[in-house]
Amino acid sequence: MKRLAVFVSGGGTNLQRIADYFAPNPNVEIVCVVSNNKGAFANQRAKNLGIPLLVVEKEYYNSEMFIKRLISLDIDLIVLAGFLWLIPQGLIEAFPNKIINIHPALLPKYGGKGFYGHHVHEAVVAAHEKESGITVHYVNERYDSGDIIFQAKVALSPTDTPDDVAAKIHVLEQENFPLVIEGLLFKK
Ligand code: GAR
Repeated sequence: MKRLAVFVSGGGTNLQRIADYFAPNPNVEIVCVVSNNKGAFANQRAKNLGIPLLVVEKEYYNSEMFIKRLISLDIDLIVLAGFLWLIPQGLIEAFPNKIINIHPALLPKYGGKGFYGHHVHEAVVAAHEKESGITVHYVNERYDSGDIIFQAKVALSPTDTPDDVAAKIHVLEQENFPLVIEGLLFKK
């Protein structure tokens, strides 16, 4: 049995997709959703899915207690799915190469602090990029800079608005993210 934790801050469409994808697979379980935002719709999704939800505040999030709690859950992979806080050094050390993030652009472009969600798509459109995409990468102590595991691209048209780009990226995320996670969980 492979055990996942999914960290969220927002709408949770990636959480939903990951949960739906693995639902028929008895060898994968999401054992915990961690949210840093008590108003996130992702929290409601976790409840609807029957997954234990842990809403964290800054102090607990940065504590040894939080790391111990996650270790006690025997997690194989921590998946950041639209999670906006930096991962503390202690957590990275406790889960070496076991924390991944999805970013809605082709890193190293449009990454780093402040580049999240719609801000990314606005910057991509402002720069008249001809393509964008998604990046799944390992997480280190800096935003969006760990080793890249997977990228997928999509062509943009000159008339695409940030909302159009967001819609294209959403499709790429829904198609690819669960497959990348599955590949990491069961790689030989
Ligand atoms: C996703 O597009 C994800 O790539 C992005 O936030 C969105 C979350 O959507 N992540 C970042 O920007 C991280 N820097 P969701 O809550 O509906 O899954």
